[in-house]
Amino acid sequence: MSYDKNWAKVDVKSLPKMVVPAPGPKSMEIHSRAEKYMKGYSSQVKLFPVAFESGHGCTLTDVDGNTYIDFSSGIYVTNLGHCHPKVVEYTQKWVGKLMNCHDYSTEIKTLFLEKLASTLPGSLNGIQMYCAGTEAVEAAMRAARAYTKKHEFFSFYGDFHGKTISAVSLTESANYTTGPRFNGHHLAPNGHCYHCHFDKKYPECNLFCVDALEKQIQMEGTGSVAAIVLEPIQGWSGSIVYPDGYLAKIRKLCDKLGIFLIVDEVLTCCARTGKMYCFEYDNIIPDVVTLGKGLANGFPCTAFAIKEEYSEVLEKISASTSYGGNPMAAAAGLASLEVIEDEAIVEKSAKLGDFILKQLKKMQDNHKIIGEVRGKGCLLGMELVKDQKTKEPFIEAGNKVYQKAFAKGLAWIPSKNNLRMSPPLIMEEDLAAKALLIIDEAVTEVEKEYGY
Ligand SMILES: Cc1ncc(COP(=O)(O)O)c(C=O)c1O
Repeated sequence: MSYDKNWAKVDVKSLPKMVVPAPGPKSMEIHSRAEKYMKGYSSQVKLFPVAFESGHGCTLTDVDGNTYIDFSSGIYVTNLGHCHPKVVEYTQKWVGKLMNCHDYSTEIKTLFLEKLASTLPGSLNGIQMYCAGTEAVEAAMRAARAYTKKHEFFSFYGDFHGKTISAVSLTESANYTTGPRFNGHHLAPNGHCYHCHFDKKYPECNLFCVDALEKQIQMEGTGSVAAIVLEPIQGWSGSIVYPDGYLAKIRKLCDKLGIFLIVDEVLTCCARTGKMYCFEYDNIIPDVVTLGKGLANGFPCTAFAIKEEYSEVLEKISASTSYGGNPMAAAAGLASLEVIEDEAIVEKSAKLGDFILKQLKKMQDNHKIIGEVRGKGCLLGMELVKDQKTKEPFIEAGNKVYQKAFAKGLAWIPSKNNLRMSPPLIMEEDLAAKALLIIDEAVTEVEKEYGY
């Protein structure tokens, strides 16, 4: 299929376009009707209850007619922009042709599997398809349990791996949301250099945190550890980027202990971080990788891949689900992978991300409440602090900066005192620069309010 390569081009001067103060009256009306039934909205919705009408490329329009610059991509999902023509065409074809045929083969699923396997390094070619990231994580854990015949897992402070009951036990939030994590699920201090859990400095520390992890596995594990599970960059807890060599040292530890390394790339996969897969930065190959979000640019389509030498075990954990790998999902996935290749999206993500990070660093120099800016590719973030020395989290400021920038026309993602940025990877630099101007204004206003 051919499409206009400039389909997402916008007149940057005219954006954002706010026609009524947001969230406007129609948004409030629609949201309050929904809220009667739907409980437990995310903090981002609670802080800014806008109702959206449409999305096109790098912009979102709400029901009151306001058009925002998109620095969220849904939630790291629409990497190729809203309604990319190729994704729309492929998906539409299958909506009208064949919606579901359980886990029987279809040509579109076969094409998707072949394409996906061609993007994965090493022998990562035992694949199963699911609909949610959390399902892919659970399936990866089932595979690790089935192969190793062990049942314990180590994940990390700040991790998020989904909301089904075993995946949630890998997340930090398990202990304050759903009660005690499952037996055999352990959390270890992560390699978060800005808030080092061991009060050390990289690189002199020689990644002491991984030595501590080994010790913790010896002390807390009962000899039944199946895998270490990690996010290669933590999304939920504020775009936490690990130091060079961190993943490689964990890979070595897994080899030494004879346990699986499961890298959860649900959020980071498919060019989001400036590589097709984020683990490529550390030159490692995990035993299992989970994929989601940008994999099908908005259509529920997730997967996990396991090394060929272990893939026999997948016979024990049947791939069949009601919706996993349905023709529409496979079509959206195939279209997305083709676009990533055809439009050199990996390179675009790396270049745009470098540009944004440089601007954020300049912004940081002019603001006392910005403690750290960080990111890789287009997975970016900013941490607000009350004091740059004590690094005390400034949560009120985080919420206010989020709200102010949104009201000015920037759709983005808060996380307490962390502000997260996830622009579509196709965004032009001049539009991103406009978004950054909005952030700068919002930080300036909030600093003033707090007397900085
Ligand atoms: C790293 C990671 N793993 C798993 C999940 C769960 O994905 P889903 O919300 O599709 O179940 C998420 C969601 O944000 C995630 O960021």
